[in-house]
Amino acid sequence: MKQENCYILGIESSCDDTAAAVINNGVVLATIVATQKIHEEYGGVVPELASRAHQQNIVPVVHQALRKANIDKNQLSAIAFTRGPGLMGSLLVGTSFSKSLAMGLDIPLIDVNHMQAHILAHFISAEGQTAPNFPFIALTISGGHTQIVKVTDYFEMEVLGETIDDAVGEAFDKAGKILGLPYPAGPFIDKYAQQGDPHRFSFTKPKVGPLDFSFSGLKTAVLYFVEREVAKNPNFIKENLEDVCASLQFTIVDYLMDKLKNTVKATGIKEIAIGGGVSANSGIRKALKDAERTHGWTTHIPRFEYCTDNAAMIAMVGELKYKEQRFAKHDVVAKARMKL
Ligand code: KG4
Ligand code: ZN
Repeated sequence: MKQENCYILGIESSCDDTAAAVINNGVVLATIVATQKIHEEYGGVVPELASRAHQQNIVPVVHQALRKANIDKNQLSAIAFTRGPGLMGSLLVGTSFSKSLAMGLDIPLIDVNHMQAHILAHFISAEGQTAPNFPFIALTISGGHTQIVKVTDYFEMEVLGETIDDAVGEAFDKAGKILGLPYPAGPFIDKYAQQGDPHRFSFTKPKVGPLDFSFSGLKTAVLYFVEREVAKNPNFIKENLEDVCASLQFTIVDYLMDKLKNTVKATGIKEIAIGGGVSANSGIRKALKDAERTHGWTTHIPRFEYCTDNAAMIAMVGELKYKEQRFAKHDVVAKARMKL
């Protein structure tokens, strides 16, 4: 078996990004993501359209990844794919494609849990990112997930807390929709927030268990607040967008930081690693850097391309599993709901 110099192809299709990547001993040789623009006009992901777009994108994306990595498909050691969690129709495209390719090339097939992959993306060898030491706390924040996980080893993970309703990225996106911002609104809120006053308006932080999250109440609070203000002044949003964004972002970041502080208190672990699209947020990045100084935490944020949905993280998990020969059988099926 090509243990020493393995080339793993990773395939990701759990939501609205079709992605393929090639990894070689922890180094990403190519990572290609085809983001589906079609969902923008609907203000959210439409599952049926997502699976159709995956069908169209998967072959060109894989071709492009192999070409960019400058390797032939016959050099691949194994195919790693996202088995779940995610949208069933989307997962089926990546799963079926991966099974067929692995069978055709007669190489092992490796199933990957998407949430584990977000966490293990920290172990990709790349400039500008550092691998956390075990044990560490992972906070995964994106449009689909909000989870706090205790990571004791590569495959020893325990969910300590998670959202009971919306994910944090959804809170950004739904609040942004109310403010008339394009989808996904997170980056726009972040941009306007940087010019605004975070203390101008106040939003109540949702109350749930110390390590859990809730965001649906916040979205409703923003809706009622905006409706009330617009009734008084039709130009309210236009005139106050920066302050509303700054205040909202301040509330969300403070809430995330509260949860991390609770986790550190409960576990005694001060090594913190974040991942998921919302890790791009300038507010959370700054708060984490500040916590290094004020609380003595060590924090890790992967490069942006490995924070958002990508296949390099799937290939990374594939490589770790390949080294332990943890392969999937060919009758493996996609799973929309999947625990860590
Ligand atoms: O990980 P990701 O690409 O996809 C999944 O949802 O799995 O995350 C996308 C989410 C969206 O909700 C988007 O609004 C949010 O990440 N996002 C941000 C920022 N950049 C992306 N949220 C806040 N601030 C940002 N700078
Ligand atoms: Zn994700």
